[in-house]
Amino acid sequence: MRILYASDYNDLSRKAANIIAAQVILKPDCVLGLATGSSPLGTYKCLIEGYEKGDLDFSRCKAANLDEYRGLPKDNDQSYAYFMYENLFKHINIDMANTNIPDGMNADAEAECKRYDEAVRALGGVDIQLLGIGHNGHIGFNEPADEFPKGTHCVDLTQSTIDANTRFFARKEDVPTQAYTMGIQTIMSAKKILLIASGEGKADIVCRMAAGPVTPNVPASVLQLHNDVTIVADKEALSVLMEKAPEMIEGLPKA
Ligand code: GLP
Repeated sequence: MRILYASDYNDLSRKAANIIAAQVILKPDCVLGLATGSSPLGTYKCLIEGYEKGDLDFSRCKAANLDEYRGLPKDNDQSYAYFMYENLFKHINIDMANTNIPDGMNADAEAECKRYDEAVRALGGVDIQLLGIGHNGHIGFNEPADEFPKGTHCVDLTQSTIDANTRFFARKEDVPTQAYTMGIQTIMSAKKILLIASGEGKADIVCRMAAGPVTPNVPASVLQLHNDVTIVADKEALSVLMEKAPEMIEGLPKA
């Protein structure tokens, strides 16, 4: 696990986008595993700039997103399909037919999870998976549990995740309580993983993910077992790890 220091959110976004850009340049028909949330917004902005400057061509790329709320249609402005379209896809030259995201409106959870696992498999696997991290250590929507869930599954969101999402919805009762998410096995089968974390609120969980025990109670800790993981985190998100294990962080400015 490489942990790269970023001075602030802009620096983090540029560093993360550069890593994804390198992948797109080296393998123009790569499969990008994409994430939602506020953390990747800056990264997506930098990728859009790269496309606008003519440095990046996404025409042969394919994309697979981690998760989607159950019960939200694609045109709901809080659905992850909508988020991806508005914040990345509509600004670059990716072919929408090559983008994949679980269908939140398929009420048959078993069928939808099976379909999505097969769709990701048919892409030949993910070359680089971008991840954010929830305050409780979730990746995608793999919430803390007694075991690591394997394939795509339907989850009951934890109260802390529902509370964190409330800010995006007009009414409390509109906040989805379930989601479809890639499982840990699917995430771990990506060739490369890039996790980004920003802000003091993530400092404790970043430290537990990187330096704590590997446990399904902190789902992101499983990344310690992957052989090509890069974490890019800003100063605030690294503040606890900086105290406990500064030797794990690359690029830390000298005190
Ligand atoms: C949601 C998403 C995750 C994301 C997390 C953190 O739960 N399903 O993929 O990593 O939020 O979001 P943020 O980046 O806004 O802190």
